This record gives sequence, structure tokens and C-alpha cells, in this order.
Amino acid sequence: MQSGEIRRAFLDFFRKKGHEAVPSAPMVVKNDPTLMFTNAGMNQFKDVFLGNRSFSASRVANSQKCLRVSGKHNDLEEVGHDTYHHTMFEMLGNWSFGDYFKKEAIAWAMEFLAQVMKVPKERMYATIFEGDMEEHIPADEEALGFWKEHLPDTHILKGSKKDNFWEMGDTGPCGPCSEIHLDIRPEEERRIRPGHELVNTGHPLIIEIWNLVFIQYNRKSDGGLEPLPAKHVDTGMGFERLCMVVQGKTSNYDTDIFQPIIGEIGYHTGTSYGEEPGSDTAMRVIADHLRAISFSIADGQIPSNARAGYVIRRILRRAVRYGYTFLKQKEPFIYSLVPTLVQTMGNAYPELKTQQDLIMKVIREEESSFLRTLETGIRLLDQLVTEAEKKKQHSISGTSAFELYDTYGFPLDLTELILNEKGLSVRRDEFDQEMKAQKDRSRNASLVERDDWTVIESSETHKFTGFDALESDIRITRYRKVSSREGEQYHLVFNHTPFYAESGGQVGDSGVIEAGGERIEITDTLKENDQVIHISVRLPSDPTAVFRARVDRVLREKTARNHSATHLLHHALRQVLGSHVEQKGSLVHPDYLRFDFSHFSKLSTRELEAVEGMVNHLIRQDLLLDEHREIETEKARQMGALALFGEKYGNRVRVIRFGESVEFCGGTHVHATGRIGLFKIVSESAVAAGIRRIEAITGEQSEQYLRSLEKTSRDLQHLLKAKPENLLQAVNDLQKELQKLRKDLEKQQKTGLFDIKSELKGKIREVGGIKLIVSRVEVDSPARMRDISFQLMQEIDRLFMVLAADIEGKAHLTVAISDKLTEEKGLNAGKLVGDLAKEIQGGGGGQPFFATAGGKDVRGIDSALEKAFRLVKGL
Ligand code: SER
Repeated sequence: MQSGEIRRAFLDFFRKKGHEAVPSAPMVVKNDPTLMFTNAGMNQFKDVFLGNRSFSASRVANSQKCLRVSGKHNDLEEVGHDTYHHTMFEMLGNWSFGDYFKKEAIAWAMEFLAQVMKVPKERMYATIFEGDMEEHIPADEEALGFWKEHLPDTHILKGSKKDNFWEMGDTGPCGPCSEIHLDIRPEEERRIRPGHELVNTGHPLIIEIWNLVFIQYNRKSDGGLEPLPAKHVDTGMGFERLCMVVQGKTSNYDTDIFQPIIGEIGYHTGTSYGEEPGSDTAMRVIADHLRAISFSIADGQIPSNARAGYVIRRILRRAVRYGYTFLKQKEPFIYSLVPTLVQTMGNAYPELKTQQDLIMKVIREEESSFLRTLETGIRLLDQLVTEAEKKKQHSISGTSAFELYDTYGFPLDLTELILNEKGLSVRRDEFDQEMKAQKDRSRNASLVERDDWTVIESSETHKFTGFDALESDIRITRYRKVSSREGEQYHLVFNHTPFYAESGGQVGDSGVIEAGGERIEITDTLKENDQVIHISVRLPSDPTAVFRARVDRVLREKTARNHSATHLLHHALRQVLGSHVEQKGSLVHPDYLRFDFSHFSKLSTRELEAVEGMVNHLIRQDLLLDEHREIETEKARQMGALALFGEKYGNRVRVIRFGESVEFCGGTHVHATGRIGLFKIVSESAVAAGIRRIEAITGEQSEQYLRSLEKTSRDLQHLLKAKPENLLQAVNDLQKELQKLRKDLEKQQKTGLFDIKSELKGKIREVGGIKLIVSRVEVDSPARMRDISFQLMQEIDRLFMVLAADIEGKAHLTVAISDKLTEEKGLNAGKLVGDLAKEIQGGGGGQPFFATAGGKDVRGIDSALEKAFRLVKGL
């Protein structure tokens, strides 16, 4: 079976068991402060397990894009070194939300593997949770009983909390689990050593394939467990591993998911897979990381220096580093593998197909900029090795390895690998210490402690009523305290709310809630998963009261103007530049809007004017808002509504239409475009390779902007004493005049020099074959004295000249002596000048033929000159 057929078979199997097949959620998580990337299929259902939200079906199945590169589940350092770990992988999952439990979950997993995938039962092992005394959780006897219906006792093993109690992160839904492991060793080996001895020992051919989690608890922020009101099933099967088994391979990288990519890497780099361990690891690293990076970019996460973007950047750098070291790739090449990835996965994940150009562009840019840093890092590593060898040490300091990691993006595993080849290692404890210190630093900087929720009333819906009304009566259903360095805040959840929670780029509403004469300010509104959280600095004295909630109308209206303007801008950009323009980021603020989009070159003034003109034209047409609140997703697509990549949409969506601009959108808008007022683009710039940014303003902001332009213009008119229509001419005239004056000045300075020089020439005295000039000069800078000296040295033979000047209250001296004299008479200007400088209370120096000195006593100038004169006469 090809991988595509296997994926389909899984979904079909569970469909027949009454499950609804749902699409994968985005891999990059947008609305959860505790999670950057989807690390398990169950993430998108977290709130359903916790009872905060209900789902339209109680049995669900899907194939989910996951990324395990940070936090509790991090496999990054393993990837490439073995044949079955990945950063990005697909997880096949089936879920029960308070519906079936252990019996069915186990029976169906067995049925699917044994009957549909034809995996022999004697190759299967199941593990169950052995219980934990400390947390008072009993062993999972229930699961044991069900497994016995399918497998002999020797194939059922007990496991510890580490392996058999699954938790998503530090907090959240969790429970005991049963893992299914498969033994795919050859017959002979299986006869020699039974498989149950090797389960969970890291043997590459006895691997976990499926994890059945029985969600029963919620891990609270204080570390305690609380039982959940309902019991759920969360299963996750490694898709790549399943394909390996079904396709009779012994490595995930030998399946049809990876082979085309590995082949392409071989073709590009002239390396064959399976020849040499170093290059094999590199090929696996690159093949794996290519997927992680491409899917992230398709989901809207561009590599950057912060949070999720930084994680992606590090993954890419790890791939580049491996390519550089083992495949000798000194030029960007990973980007050129993208078309092959799109061929293998583009059908299941069309977002890859549509964004292929952007993905390639971004990867290429990242590769070339990292390759430049790499050289420096490699030199540093070489130095470390030489030093260690010189000192006969067997390890290098962990601090240096950390610097390589942190500053030059060298993954530790690779540094270790390279050192190993030279019989060296990294002092790992030092490295870990540095890493921990860095983590502590960033944690302390953003240390946020969230208390557990205090629940007043359990409520499932948090309906947003703020499309139609900016005020309503609400009750608080739960609250919690959140403390950080900035102070304390409260998170309040209402039974329903008129406050818009930050999302889709639109900032959250602010306003007040009032009850019994008490007024509490809401400073912001956010979404966490599906809960709308209102932020206040105080808890009301009676949280159970009925409150009047009022949204700040002025801010909301300003925001709405910018949101609607953003849609018109998006539409105009696609009209003017082409339909390759896709939204890549958006910020809708009361004061301005910022829109990032894919486009490959800077916008010309003509293009910008055309876009701005079109938006203003649409505003003047006063197009009415056409809002479809609960339209079927399929219908919305048929209407041509623009959807966003990396955004998860349910079965029903909201669509906003203004004339020909049609978008999926959950934000708030003006009722007719005329209300936007004047739309003005204020800047256009680059954000990353292939991504441009436009910032623009509307309404009052445009008005203020014009007013300030007008004021500048008025001030200029005043300064230049010119009428508006003559302003430009006046500035031109000024510039011309300035140019002319500059030229005149230069000329004057030249003639000035000429005059001084002729005057000095008139002062020459012949003393014993020396042409002596000793004189005060009127100049404005020491540089001019030098010019005069050098010119006269060229013009006059056998010259000995001492000049002195008072420049801005300081005394300056120069001594110039023709080369002939310095040779013949052993004269040295550098030495002489020091002697003369004493007279002006200063010091100086220079060369035998020319020297300068400065001093603070201008009254000493005359005696310095006399001294010079005496000196020459003495000669
Ligand atoms: N949540 C479990 C896992 O990720 C099963 O889906 O392994």
C-alpha cells in the first residue's frame, strides 16, 4: 500500500465505526500561550476534554500534522541519528468525547492493525500503566482485562508513569495509556531473543506505533490531578512508522514518504544513500527538516528571531549545517527540494502546493544568510580543537560549545559528532548549565504564574454578542489570578460577551463592567483556545453579581474602520499586483493597520498609488457590509471567499463581503465602506524574503496626518516666504545658491593660500645656504598650515620653515625642512618641534622633514619663533 492509501484506509475504518473525519488543525498554534506547535493530535480538542467546549460529534478521527521540537515533547536531537524519530510527523488519531472508552479503543486498534493492515498478532506487544503510589493512581487493570481478549499474557507488559501516563504539557488533560509496540525483526532474531525483553529499550526494530490514551484527569498548575467529569479516548499512531511496517521496510526513510526526497538530495549532492553513516544521517536530517520547515511556512510561520519563528530557524540551520559538513554543500540547495516534497505530499496537504514559490524563496534566503555565519563558527570550532589537542585535553568546554550553539547556530549533536571523530567530547555538564541559565533568564523575564480557575458556574458557550451590540448584561463564570513581574491581573470569563477577543490580527476590545456602583476596567480581551478572557487589574467585590458590560465604542469603531480597510486593501493588492498576493500577517489596531503579503518585489510609486486609489474608490462607492454569519465552509469557498493558510476553520464560517472583496473573517466591520473615511498608505517595506508590508491609516488618523503635512507646508512657506505653489521653486533656488556659495568659498580659500604663500616667500632669508622662513600666519586650521608647508617644500629648495598660528585661542607650530637639509645637516623637524613647543606650553612630534606641535599658551608664540630663528643661526 502506498502512504496515501494507508492514510485513507485509517480514516475509512473509523468512519465505519461512526467517527467523523476532520481535517488536520494547523501545525503552528495561534491561540494558546502554553503551546507553540501542535505536538499531538489531541491538542485541538483540549478544551473538549476539559469540558470547556463541546464538539459537533462525539467520535472523531483525523491525520494531524505534528511538530515535536520544543517543550515537553522534543525529538529534535534524535532526528537523523535513528530511523524512526521525526520533528514533523503525521499522527493518525481517533477520539471519543465521553462516548466509548477502553474496550472499544483497544478492540478497534487491534482490528485495524491485524485485519486491515495485516500485521501479525505475534509481532504485537501492548503496555499498560502499572500505577503510581505517590499520586494514588491505581494500575490499569481494566485495560489489562481488555488486552487479554486479544493478546497472550507474554505480550502484555506493565510500564511506569514515564511511558504509560500521557500528558500533553505541564498542565492539561491526561491519563493512563496503553502503547502498542511492533517487533519487525527477522524471524531468526525473534527466535533467539523474545520481543518482550526489548520493548521500550530503543531497539530500532521494536518500536512503539500507537498510543491509546484514556483521558481521565486534568493536571492543574499546582501539580495536582483532578478527575474530569467525563472519560475520553485519545489515540495517536505514528503514520510514518505505520507506513514502514506495512511497506515491509525497516526505516521510516525507506518508505514512499521519504524516498523521493532522499533521492533528490542524492541527485543534487552526488551522494548515494546507504553508503556512509555520516552522509546518511545528513540526508535523513535534511529530508526530515525540509518537511518541518515547509509545513511551518505554509502555516504562516516564517523563520525569525523570536518564539516559534526562532524554533523554525534553528531547525533549518541544523539541516544546513549537516549538509555543509557531510554533503559538502556550500551553497543553498535545500530550497530546491521543495518541488519534490510538494509532489509527494501536496495532494494530502494542498497548502504546500499553493505556497510552493514562497516556501522556496524563504528557505533559500535563510540558507544563504546562515551559510555566511557558518564559516566563522567553523573557524572557531577548529581553533577549539587545536587548542585542546595542544593542551592534550580530551574535551572542550561546554561554554564554548554553547557559544557555538547560541551565536553560530551549531546544533550540539553535530558539534559532538565532529569532535568525536577527533577523539574529543564536549563537557556536557557545563553546556547544560549554560542552557539552563539561558532558559532561566528568559523564563524570569516573562515569568507568568497562572492560578487555577475558580469556577462560579460551568458554562459551555461563550457566545460573542458584540457584532450586534456593544453592551449587555453578563455574569462571570470563572476567574483566575495571573501574576507576573508587571504585577497582578485577573482573567475573567463571562457567560457571553460583547467584547471582541484579539484574533485574526484585530486587537481585543477594552471597556468596563459595572455592578452595584462598582466599575471595573477591562483593559484587553484575549482568546485562549476557545475561551474569551477579559483582563482586569481588579476582581469585583462580588464576582457573582450581574454586570453591565460596555465596550469602548470609540476604539471599537476606529478598529472596525481599519479592519474593513484591510479587506479592501487585500482586494486592491490582488487586483493591481496579481492573485499571487496572499495575506501573511495582519494587525488591525484602532490607530493604524499593518498588512503583510506575499509579493516578490518592492512596490513602485505607481503601484502604490494605484492600490491606494482603488481602496479610496471602493470607500466612496459606500459598499454595504454583506455579512454571512453561519455559512457552510464549502459554500463560502464557492462564493470565492479568501481563506487564510494556517487558520483552522470549522464546518461553518463567517464571511464578510464588500462588493467584490469576499473573505473568511471573524472580525468587526463598518456597516458601509463610506465610514472608513480617507485611506492613506504611510509606508511600504520588506519583512522577509518574498513578503512585503504596508502600513496605512484611515478616518481621524488620516485627517491628522493631512493636518500635520499641512502644518509643515505652512511653516515652510513662512520660513521661505513663498506661496504654496512656489515652495519647490524656493527650495530649488536655495539649493542653487548654496552650491554657488560653496564654490565661491573654495575659490577664496585657494586665493587666500596663494596670498599667504607669496607673502611667506617674500620673507625668505638666506642663512648659510639655507632658505629660512620663520613667521606667524593667519589661518583657520592646522590642516592649512600643513598644506602651506607641503606646497612650499615643493616649490623652494633647501627650505627651513617654522610657522606659528593662533587658532581659536590655541598655539600651533609647524616645522618643515627640505629632505636635502635633513640629510646634509642631520636636521630633524620632529626633534626640533618638541623643543619649540616648550615655549607654548605644549608638545608635538612628527617626522624629520615635517612636524607639528600644539600648546595652550598663545603668548609664547613669539618666543617660540625667536628660538627657531636663533637655532638656525646657530647652525
Ligand atoms: N496524545 C497521545 C500522543 O500524542 C495519543 O494521541 O501520543
